[in-house]
Amino acid sequence: MMKTLAISNQKGGAGKTTTGVNLSACLAEKGRRVLLIDLDPQACASAWCGVRDGGRGLLEALTDNADLGDLVVPTKTPGLELVPSSSWLANVDKALAGEVGAELILRDRLAALPQRWDVVIIDCPPALGLLTVSALAAVRDVLVPVETSVMTLAGLARLSETVDVIRRRLNPDLALSAVLACRVDLRRNLAREVLESMRKTFGQAVLQAVVRENVRLAEAWSYAQPITTYDTTSHGGEDYRAVADELLTRWRNRP
Ligand SMILES: Nc1ncnc2c1ncn2[C@@H]1O[C@H](COP(=O)(O)OP(=O)(O)OP(=O)(O)O)[C@@H](O)[C@H]1O
Ligand SMILES: [Mg+2]
Repeated sequence: MMKTLAISNQKGGAGKTTTGVNLSACLAEKGRRVLLIDLDPQACASAWCGVRDGGRGLLEALTDNADLGDLVVPTKTPGLELVPSSSWLANVDKALAGEVGAELILRDRLAALPQRWDVVIIDCPPALGLLTVSALAAVRDVLVPVETSVMTLAGLARLSETVDVIRRRLNPDLALSAVLACRVDLRRNLAREVLESMRKTFGQAVLQAVVRENVRLAEAWSYAQPITTYDTTSHGGEDYRAVADELLTRWRNRP
């Protein structure tokens, strides 16, 4: 069965897209067939994968019964394919206003995909609106990246409540299965404090692997390359490979 993982945090700039793209690339590097779905109208993940304008395809998949599988494009990274986004997607709330069960459409589209991939990863926008709720209704696992350079755990409680509500009302299989510390600067007390309170609050869900602050990750975006090819031996590359390994181990133990 395909693994389905939403990367979500309603806070902007938490590291969702950086994690979505580079975790996907690392899983692909390890031989997994990965489909990355860019569900953010800002389309940053698409641009990172070299797609400038994803057009209205994804909007139509959510509003007009178009097939998600038809929207899949290859990327330069072997094993990594993409469903690109574009600013068109920002119209989804209006287009689906009043539609019964709108938040379950993506789940249907996902279920209709051919079983060609080992992992489907969804990069969510920074809001708890229809797109994020649709993603959470469609997947089994949520990974929450947390930026540790600022104290941001208050927002996490809200996300965790949302996950609970969606589990009760829409998707009993949903698990907040991973919390990932991003932009960690271990020389700073704050980062260590944030990490500690993350572990207190979310326990086992917090991944042992952390992603250090690494300028190469920020640069890779403008070169439209994942860290695995932009600077394969960088800290960023090392860290996201460790994240990929840890997730694969968890999935093996709890499929
Ligand atoms: N480990 C890191 N080291 C250095 N910079 C990072 C790291 N992770 C993310 N960044 C930078 O932080 C900014 C926000 O990251 P990113 O776009 O991944 O967050 P996001 O949660 O997807 O944001 P949004 O909410 O806008 O979608 C970007 O400029 C990115 O380059
Ligand atoms: Mg993003």
